[in-house]
Amino acid sequence: MEPYQTLSRSIAGKTAIITGAASGMGRATAQLFAAEGAQVAVTDLRQEACDAVVAEIEAAGVPGKARGWALDVSDEAAIKRVVGDVAESFGGLDIVVNNAGFAIPGDVGEESYEDSWGPTLAVMLSAHQRMIRAALPYLRKSESPRIVNVASTEGLGATPGNSPYVAAKHGVIGLTRGLAVDLGREGITVNCICPGPIRTGITDAIPEEHKQIYAKRRVPLRRYAIPEEVAHMTLSCVLPAASFLTGAVIPVDGGLTIKNA
Ligand code: NAI
Repeated sequence: MEPYQTLSRSIAGKTAIITGAASGMGRATAQLFAAEGAQVAVTDLRQEACDAVVAEIEAAGVPGKARGWALDVSDEAAIKRVVGDVAESFGGLDIVVNNAGFAIPGDVGEESYEDSWGPTLAVMLSAHQRMIRAALPYLRKSESPRIVNVASTEGLGATPGNSPYVAAKHGVIGLTRGLAVDLGREGITVNCICPGPIRTGITDAIPEEHKQIYAKRRVPLRRYAIPEEVAHMTLSCVLPAASFLTGAVIPVDGGLTIKNA
């Protein structure tokens, strides 16, 4: 028998770029990765919001380094510039987490449908491939290159009145699978997380009572999750030891998508 091999469960010293990292799951992921010793590029729409997360990370006295970059992921030129800056400042890039997003309804019967469709597809689908393509030259030089795309349980089913978001999130799953196949020969892994109901900026406006009713009716674990519970799954996907995990679509949803009645 071959001797047992110990694979690394550490991202210490790795460099990660996270989009939409000023709030919710992106922020929790930035904090967790820094706590695990990674160098973290905290990117989001506003520089001050990124700097606030960096200050939190520094105040926690964690071993990793963090720095903030303003990045609107609907701006392709900005993606190229920021990804290049991050790789130059931190001396490479190992991990990309495509997380930025928002929720605007898209009622197919309304004139405003296109107003939802355009930004939703730009930020929650096109941006993912643009981030990945901008990062590829650096990921190719990494010893354990990892990509995680944040989709949603809306990538596995559909809530009414939400079809642009549903289309984008189904697209993220397709992009994950397509790129996992294309980049596999280079050892670059591409995986996708499908969060269920999580307490973040996106769900903040839902009244607590509605959250409780929904969770008790639909979620086997009978509650919303906190963003840290998703961040830990993202961490598991980017470990050097996660070297044979690619093209995976992982619900982190308290059982929402497996419950029939
Ligand atoms: P959040 O609102 O707390 O964080 C999203 C962040 O993305 C914000 O800081 C926002 O400024 C940023 N963002 C929005 N547009 C951007 C752009 N154009 N460029 C750069 N950053 C931008 O929300 P949450 O929930 O943490 O969202 C993270 C991801 O999780 C999103 O992709 C969302 O669709 C997804 N998701 C959320 C669920 C939930 O229940 N909260 C469930 C399933 C998926």
